Amino acid sequence: MRTDTPQPIKLSDYKAPDFLIPATELAFDLAPETTRVKARLTIKRQGAADAPLILMGERLKLISVAIDGQPVDYTTTDETLTIASVPDQFVLETEVEIDPLNNKTLEGLYMSSGRYCTQCEAEGFRKITWYLDRPDSLSKYRVRIEAPKAGFPHLLSNGNLLEKGDLPDGKHYALWEDPFFKPCYLFALVAGELDVLEDSTVTMSGRTVDLKIYVDTGMRDRAAYAMDALKRSMKWDEEVYGREYDLDLFMIVAVRDFNFGAMENKGLNVFNASLLLADPTTATDADYERIESVIAHEYFHNWSGNRVTCRDWFQLCLKEGLTVFRDQGFSADMRGHAVARIKDVRALRARQFPEDSGPLAHSVRPSSYVKIDNFYTATIYEKGAEIVGMLKTLAGPAVYRQALDHYFEHNDGTAATLEDFLASFHAVTADNPQLRADLSAMIDWYTQAGTPQVRISQHYDAAAKTLTLTCLQVTAPTPGQPEKKPLPIPIRLAVLDEDGAPQAPFNTPDNVSWLFILRDAQAEMVIRNIEMPPVLSALRHFSAPVTLHLDEPQSHAFARFKGDSDPFNRWEAAQGLAKAIMLDEIPDEALIDAFAQGLEATLRDDRLDDAFKALILGLPTEADLAQSQSPIDPAFLHHNRKRFKAALSLRLHDTLRDLYNALPVANTFSPDAASAGNRALRNALLDLLLAGFDLSQNPGELTLLAEAHFKAATNMTDMIGGLIALTHVQGAPYQNALDAFYARFRHEPLVIDKWFSLQAAAPHPDTLARVQALSHHPDFDAKTPNRWRALVQGFANNQSVFHAPDGGGYAFLVEQILAVDAFNPMTAARLVEPLSRYRFYAQPYSENMRQALQMITAAPKLSKNVLELATKALA
Ligand code: ARG
Ligand code: ZN
Repeated sequence: MRTDTPQPIKLSDYKAPDFLIPATELAFDLAPETTRVKARLTIKRQGAADAPLILMGERLKLISVAIDGQPVDYTTTDETLTIASVPDQFVLETEVEIDPLNNKTLEGLYMSSGRYCTQCEAEGFRKITWYLDRPDSLSKYRVRIEAPKAGFPHLLSNGNLLEKGDLPDGKHYALWEDPFFKPCYLFALVAGELDVLEDSTVTMSGRTVDLKIYVDTGMRDRAAYAMDALKRSMKWDEEVYGREYDLDLFMIVAVRDFNFGAMENKGLNVFNASLLLADPTTATDADYERIESVIAHEYFHNWSGNRVTCRDWFQLCLKEGLTVFRDQGFSADMRGHAVARIKDVRALRARQFPEDSGPLAHSVRPSSYVKIDNFYTATIYEKGAEIVGMLKTLAGPAVYRQALDHYFEHNDGTAATLEDFLASFHAVTADNPQLRADLSAMIDWYTQAGTPQVRISQHYDAAAKTLTLTCLQVTAPTPGQPEKKPLPIPIRLAVLDEDGAPQAPFNTPDNVSWLFILRDAQAEMVIRNIEMPPVLSALRHFSAPVTLHLDEPQSHAFARFKGDSDPFNRWEAAQGLAKAIMLDEIPDEALIDAFAQGLEATLRDDRLDDAFKALILGLPTEADLAQSQSPIDPAFLHHNRKRFKAALSLRLHDTLRDLYNALPVANTFSPDAASAGNRALRNALLDLLLAGFDLSQNPGELTLLAEAHFKAATNMTDMIGGLIALTHVQGAPYQNALDAFYARFRHEPLVIDKWFSLQAAAPHPDTLARVQALSHHPDFDAKTPNRWRALVQGFANNQSVFHAPDGGGYAFLVEQILAVDAFNPMTAARLVEPLSRYRFYAQPYSENMRQALQMITAAPKLSKNVLELATKALA
């Protein structure tokens, strides 16, 4: 047993801080290895009269401590500074020295490409100075930054610039003031050489706000799309949520070295460059889409996160779940509701469902953690967003908006809890007791982990014209929660006929569907006046994050695939059928024929948009299939999926080819949704065509087609589409394209990241060897998270290669995790998850995965981050 097993922090132990810090003044004297930070904190006691002052700090070299100008006695540990007796009100002054240059945790103050930047959420501020580093400690900040003029012309922090000026010895300074109370995790500082793209906007009340996006020198043009997305986000939040921006300046900085996507620091967002910079030749449509949504996400945090923040980190979903829900609403309005919903659900199922059924399952509001960084999970973000979505579904759009207005108004300037959030729904529903009760009951979705399984069985009585539905829900136990209660599950239903057209006009707003709330473990309902044999369309628009089992013949799924007016359920029907086919031991040729016909009809349907068709063509991934197999056999899934795609390809070859040729190729690039959908469809058609390569009568023709697509590409989306198509061909055509790609983009780090991840994702027998070689490539750098993730995460997601029967894939991952854990635990810990579900796999995978986890926990020096996850996975 390890002796360094860290103690968890528990929600039930929450205690308000004994001291308030109404004012924080910081002075930075920047130097790469010896930055000096002076803090002048105005502190007031609010707790017990004898409570000591205990501040948090990490890796700080303490120079001095004084209270009201006088030296004091204090004690320190690795993580705390304690002053036993302090007055009720005083000024604390400290000075520390820190080393940004060698800070490879990328948390606190660090250097990236010769530039200073910060990342404080969740607990990075304590690497900058001694402080009450907790989100319920709100303060007003005044920040002075001093640095050499050469190399550091821009000195940025939160809020408004009060002053700047020259100093002796070639130095200069800037003084910033943020008029809003904020927790320290929203503090930011950036200093360095940067290009800036400037613009401005006028808010709903007529104020002008300056917008500035800072990027690497020479990259200004690539910030244009982010700027456009920012302006659209600001407008949308005014129109849809009534939220206006509150400072006169909004800045964003893009940095290459960043542990995750982006950060919502007040007035000074910091972005991973990969989520900000875009132009047609270097960014794919998926990149544009992601940039738009993350720009919106971080901007929306200004209200859901900054103006109203979280009391403690257990409430993380209060800001993240709500903000994801808001950014999903924005993306849906920008790009189409049906397609956006399908993509969101696809992501939820790929990332959150496995988490929720495995050893790392936790509730959306966890009750304990060791390292909060490990809880920036799909559960807290994406399932958290689904819960807000269900609240809106239950309340309806108008009441939802009233509740949100109430929430922002009544909690502005405070650190809130989920109870405060739900209290706002309570406050605006006094006239509707049933709705009020349903909304209050939603708290259980926040506290109970696990994905509910819903089963609906049906009986049609043709003589009585009634359809009787029986609904059951059950949630499997998760770690620490053996017993589960029934949750309130909103299920949107419709009854279709055998062609998928709606039956029986119901007296509901859309005349087609109605909302049923499954409150108990079981419920029955009778639907009358059903004239024709019914086909049920349940959980329309994915109205709740559950797994649905419908007891029905396969013909019903075909009916929905053919005609369901809910595009989500239409797509879902196709997914379900494709899954069933691929999970069959022996291919069912008749079923494949029927599916191919359905696919052809979909592709030829002029009423459907290209983006939707591309999603239908996507087919369930190996990881999707794994969720329906027990025990999981990755080799079987890979083989069957490949076989199915080849079968479809051969059957539909002429259709695919005709449709591919018929699609127009635009002369000029536009990132809008329709153009992106067009490219997505063209690339998906090409991929399915090439999936027939091994069985093709004419492989030479297919090779030429893929090569021509790659060579003719005038944008990154089509280039990647060509490369993926050539992945089916392998050999020289594939390698030549990769080499050409590298030669062309070798000076573009964001594109070279793609070059690494594409190779890691190829389902080829030599991929592990290739990935190992790439980990020694001169362009590989484990200290840059983007590059490391491109290779290592790309590889771990490559199901059939990562799960090599001899365990070689796992060994490579363990080696990488341990290497990175030595300097960047937060990023290393993210990759423990692919090993965590070992109990679900067949042998020899399962045992090899377990041993790999044990190699991790047996390592002599391990961060708390990695230790927490590996230990939980093995428990
Ligand atoms: N608040 C940021 C966002 O969602 C993410 C911060 C991630 N922090 C972390 N320690 N993982 O926009
Ligand atoms: Zn966020």
